[in-house]
Amino acid sequence: AHYRPSQRPDIGFNPIPVEQNPNFDTVTVPKGYSAQSFFSWGDPVEQGAPAWQKDASNTWQDQMKQAGQNHDGIWFFPFRDKPNDQGLLVMNHEYINPTLHPGGLTFKEDENGLRFRPESEVKKEMAAHGVSIIEVKRSTDGAWVRVMDSKYNRRITGMTPMALTGEAAGTDMLKTMADPEGRTVLGTLNNCAMGFTPWGTYLTCEENWKNYFVNRDKDDYAQRVSHHRYGVSNQQNSAYYAWESVEPRFNATPDKEQAHGGYVNEPNRFGWVVEIDPFDPKSTPKKRTAMGRLVRECSTLSLGDSGQMAFYFGDDTRGEYVYKFVPDKVYDPKRLTSNTDILDSGTLYAAIFHDDGKGEWKPLVFGQGGLTRRNGFFSQADVLINARRAADIVGATTMDRPEWVAVHPTTREVYVTLTNNKHRGKKDDQSTNAANPREDNRHGQIVRFTEAQSDPTAITFDWEVFLLAGDRPGATLADNSKVPENLIGNIKGDIFSSPDGIWFDFQGRLWIQTDYGDDSERNYNMGTNQMLCCDPVTAEVKRFMVGPRGCEITGVTTTPDGKTMWVNIQHPEISFPASDGKTRPRSTTVMITKDDGGVIGS
Ligand code: FEO
Ligand code: CA
Ligand code: CA
Ligand code: CA
Repeated sequence: AHYRPSQRPDIGFNPIPVEQNPNFDTVTVPKGYSAQSFFSWGDPVEQGAPAWQKDASNTWQDQMKQAGQNHDGIWFFPFRDKPNDQGLLVMNHEYINPTLHPGGLTFKEDENGLRFRPESEVKKEMAAHGVSIIEVKRSTDGAWVRVMDSKYNRRITGMTPMALTGEAAGTDMLKTMADPEGRTVLGTLNNCAMGFTPWGTYLTCEENWKNYFVNRDKDDYAQRVSHHRYGVSNQQNSAYYAWESVEPRFNATPDKEQAHGGYVNEPNRFGWVVEIDPFDPKSTPKKRTAMGRLVRECSTLSLGDSGQMAFYFGDDTRGEYVYKFVPDKVYDPKRLTSNTDILDSGTLYAAIFHDDGKGEWKPLVFGQGGLTRRNGFFSQADVLINARRAADIVGATTMDRPEWVAVHPTTREVYVTLTNNKHRGKKDDQSTNAANPREDNRHGQIVRFTEAQSDPTAITFDWEVFLLAGDRPGATLADNSKVPENLIGNIKGDIFSSPDGIWFDFQGRLWIQTDYGDDSERNYNMGTNQMLCCDPVTAEVKRFMVGPRGCEITGVTTTPDGKTMWVNIQHPEISFPASDGKTRPRSTTVMITKDDGGVIGS
């Protein structure tokens, strides 16, 4: 049986048009709603943080206490006694932009083309990654304000010490010359989307960490699955910022003179779910290795009737897989402390989407399904660290860049965004299949599935393509040319490209956020990036918000009553949120309220 949402949510706003103005530098929401900037890159977070300087002259020490860049996944943790009026906003800072420094990123090159960076810039870049935790509350006049002296206000950065826990922790593959125990790592990187647990912790997910490392030893690289299967650089420098020129741990070239090969295992210490207790400002974040190592977008909870759980993950690279983790233990709401290490034991699965609409979860367990010595696996730690390779062997289905996952609040139906994949149908290992049906897929799709008996721990499911994003049939582009067949979608209502963020609110509205190049000719009819609201029963889509030029819209959360919403505007390109045409753009959390005080979207 398919546990479909049958009750239509109330979606009462009048949708807004696309925004095609090339100089658009603000956000638009429907009539009857207000949006205001709430929390931007550089805003003070920790005690003693200085104010943001417009010329980006803040030092790396300043940045350690200020909001990072590239706000992404976000979650509101309400205070129990006043859940709709006070709580903690926790959000990711995915990466950095040239706006971080007064004159952009400085790269110098030696005669061999090796790139070098100034130490002060690298440190500021590490400090602008990670997570922000801020306390927010309604003031006496009803307006939301930040609690600037809150004991909870905290920055977690690319330098914060974290524990490695679970089956892979302490194994040789996680040891480095700086950490011979294999249990302590500095920092979390490229924190994209997120999740939360029923026991009140935040899960930040490490996405494109591969771009921060280099292994210059081509022979070693070719045989080291944990590097090449994830796309660590084997060129002269790491792909992004050449941090290895300042911080040796980002140089993962094996060094036989050093214990544990120097830092060859450092990349194995990224790609995890990191669990953070926002209510304990002294707590050490924990990288939960039982959940597997991916280029991980998200970690979305589904909670069953008996406390059984699944956490769903997208591995966001072309042709990678959808996964879930089922903890061994169930959630016990009566004994909160007994839940604290639940994420250290359980089963990791990879998904097969059969063409007939049936699906299977294949366990990634050492000794089962070919995950044996013959295939290069010697322990469960091997399987977890090389989860992609394990999923290859069990025959998981290659997907069009799996991003966020959303779970319906009552039926537990699961929705996955497959943002786009230009390799689909073009590369031998990525031929089209029923769940990824479009060659040269530039606009993406949303797939939905129902676990057997609607049980998060089931090992079979039924699935279908919920919608195919793209232009309307017969559409034309700016030059009056006909939109090619592969760019036509089947959206009912307002069109978009490249779904990325996706989330259900408590009343079953499906919120969809986009991430596409708004300067690309093929996205002409889509305008700037947007957030839309979708009825999961009819699949009808209404545009709720459009963002400033060049941004991506990503991350959404509300108070439990649904009346205050926070949404992140990531990497705007012109002067948002100042909108004065000259101030440098800043990633910003925008707060949305309904003017009549009602539920957002209703
Ligand atoms: Fe950081 Fe896959 O988005
Ligand atoms: Ca994303
Ligand atoms: Ca994306
Ligand atoms: Ca992004």
